[in-house]
Amino acid sequence: MAGERAAPLRLGSIAPSFKADTTNGPIDFHEFIGDSWVVLFSHPEDYTPVCTTELGEMARLDPEFKKRGVKLIGLSANTLGSHEGWINDITEVTGSRVSFPIIADKERKVAYLYDMIDYQDTTNVDSKGIAFTIRSVFVIDPKKTIRTILSYPASTGRNSAEILRIVDSLQTGDKNKITTPVNWVPGDDVIVHPAVQGEEATRLFPNLRAVKPYLRFTSLPSA
Ligand code: BEZ
Repeated sequence: MAGERAAPLRLGSIAPSFKADTTNGPIDFHEFIGDSWVVLFSHPEDYTPVCTTELGEMARLDPEFKKRGVKLIGLSANTLGSHEGWINDITEVTGSRVSFPIIADKERKVAYLYDMIDYQDTTNVDSKGIAFTIRSVFVIDPKKTIRTILSYPASTGRNSAEILRIVDSLQTGDKNKITTPVNWVPGDDVIVHPAVQGEEATRLFPNLRAVKPYLRFTSLPSA
């Protein structure tokens, strides 16, 4: 409606749906999510150095994401033809072929819907001075709920292992009523969720080790 602004996307928002052209054909985003987890991530521009390393690395890790039931989908404000040519370069440079879709968002429809634009970097713009996307990451669960939002500047390539680690933490937490401590990686001890107390805590977590009443570690059986 005129004068009204869309509510900001927050953790817990339903990921807005959209229709878009991608390197794997047209998609409806909610249909694309289906019953899967999804990592939707933007990069500033095709044929740029940091983005080339990032997309190659996400392509290399694609089997790891798939093992966890996660579909990857990239995006930038470039055309399909540009994406397609660049995918060949990524394969040549990194040895990994991008087989997940990359959204062609030349008009920045999805970029604005998901607020993937910044205020600070006046160099991250196209030839007309219109802002390109930053390095945004949205981790979305099968209920289409946004579970994580990350924003990196154009100058800083992401840590792909961290994105995988976030997925591992969210999926482990959903299954086990636990949270994960600083620098946690799968296999490390986890923290019993503060909402789990008393008899339920000792029943669910027989190995519970209370360092403080509010800080209770436990191991989890290996998957
Ligand atoms: C890059 O991917 O290297 C890049 C893209 C846009 C601005 C700065 C760096």
